[in-house]
Amino acid sequence: MLVLQDERASGKGSFPWTRYAADLVLCLATLGAYARAAQHPVPLGQNPDSATCIECHADKTKGKRVHSAMAMGCNACHVVTQARDVTTINLVAPAKDLCFSCHAKSTEKVLHGPYAQGNCIVCHSPHSSNWPNQLLAPTQDLCMGCHVRARLKVNTKRRIAKVPWGVTLTFDQLKGWQYIGLNKALNANHPVEGHPVRGANTLLGTHAAEINCLSCHQPHHSQSANLLPAKFANETALCESCHKGEF
Ligand code: HEC
Ligand code: HEC
Ligand code: HEC
Ligand code: HEC
Ligand code: HEC
Ligand code: HEC
Ligand code: HEC
Repeated sequence: MLVLQDERASGKGSFPWTRYAADLVLCLATLGAYARAAQHPVPLGQNPDSATCIECHADKTKGKRVHSAMAMGCNACHVVTQARDVTTINLVAPAKDLCFSCHAKSTEKVLHGPYAQGNCIVCHSPHSSNWPNQLLAPTQDLCMGCHVRARLKVNTKRRIAKVPWGVTLTFDQLKGWQYIGLNKALNANHPVEGHPVRGANTLLGTHAAEINCLSCHQPHHSQSANLLPAKFANETALCESCHKGEF
């Protein structure tokens, strides 16, 4: 485009439609390629095995935590089709159903929005990562990525939001979500004013696990509202697990 402007500014001849047309054709061709998003950029021939895939996609098997399913081979989830010299790669099931094909969907009463939608890959890599359970960020950052105003980048006009680790969600995928009103340091003020959400559990002593979102919530599902952990019969029992005899 800059080139076009230069040519016009220099007054050399008329508007270069031929060049523009060439750009347009290129542009449409690119669009075409995206529409057939599953076309693999490199032809792979018949029945390539995982070792072949890993020659070029070694990054998928690296990281401190590798999904156990990777041992079953790439074709546990990807299906390769070769027609003439065009290779297409699709998932063996639609993305929203894929994880549930091996991990049974919970039948508990309360399902966390993204879990219920089968949108597992907003929190987990299907392949590998450096965090336990192939999470895409440390757990606390994961939760705060959607539930803390300062972390979620919301574009109201386009009705989308982007979490800090780069995944974009539509407002439909975020239906029903709420911000929690943490303090500036993002370490306190929930579920009640002044309450710590991270750091030492000073009530139970130095050997107790640190407080984090999962001290009081489950990430996927629960029998009670607010994804409270199953082991507590109700909210008071949860509070009393740390505040012994206070409630
Ligand atoms: C000769 C190198 C090479 C081999 C072998 C290879 N890939 Fe790729 N693949 C690429 C490149 C380059 C891209 C585009 C950049 C990227 O996404 O990494 C790509 C993209 C992809 C994509 C995203 C785009 C799409 O087509 O959906 C998937 C999925 C994929 N590869 C899976 C596989 C699987 C599964 C195998 C083995 C059956 C495999 N690849 C073998 C080079 C290769
Ligand atoms: C082909 C079967 C299969 C599919 C599909 C599958 N998984 Fe797994 N997954 C397993 C097996 C087997 C294990 C290990 C045993 C277990 O924990 O159930 C596992 C374990 C896990 C674990 C625990 C850590 C680990 O790797 O052992 C996570 C997290 C996980 N899967 C997430 C996912 C997500 C997210 C998806 C969808 C992208 C998915 N899985 C799809 C088979 C599968
Ligand atoms: C448990 C299921 C599962 C297994 C096993 C699996 N994949 Fe994937 N893969 C996925 C899903 C789901 C996506 C789509 C991720 C997305 O849309 O962000 C994906 C996307 C990809 C992509 C394109 C996007 C990216 O992250 O670069 C490549 C390349 C890829 N897989 C390669 C592989 C290779 C190579 C193997 C075997 C070594 C493999 N996958 C095994 C589920 C799997
Ligand atoms: C909101 C983020 C989030 C979403 C969405 C999510 N997970 Fe998880 N998942 C986690 C966290 C956090 C843990 C670790 C829990 C812990 O440390 O106790 C985990 C742990 C797991 C584990 C290992 C422990 C276990 O519960 O068996 C599996 C398997 C798993 N997830 C599968 C899935 C599948 C399948 C989906 C989609 C249907 C999914 N997850 C969606 C955050 C998420
Ligand atoms: C000490 C326990 C505790 C911790 C730690 C905790 N929560 Fe909560 N959370 C609760 C309770 C209790 C409720 C229900 C509050 C109510 O009914 O008003 C709740 C409610 C929520 C809700 C529903 C909306 C709302 O405000 O009622 C969200 C979202 C939430 N928590 C996210 C988080 C995240 C993210 C973290 C980590 C940064 C976290 N919670 C840490 C106890 C906790
Ligand atoms: C990808 C965005 C996303 C991430 C990441 C996320 N949440 Fe949520 N969360 C939602 C959405 C959407 C809802 C509203 C739908 C629903 O009720 O589950 C929700 C609702 C909740 C609720 C209220 C559930 C109820 O009973 O109404 C709690 C509690 C909660 N999330 C805790 C967490 C915790 C803890 C984490 C980290 C493990 C987390 N969230 C990570 C999107 C997210
Ligand atoms: C995982 C442990 C844990 C759980 C569960 C827990 N708390 Fe706390 N709570 C703490 C700690 C630690 C403090 C800080 C104590 C201190 O420094 O004096 C605290 C402080 C408080 C305070 C004082 C806040 C202030 O301004 O100093 C109140 C009120 C409170 N908790 C109520 C609750 C309620 C209500 C629940 C149940 C919904 C609950 N807590 C669940 C660990 C917990």
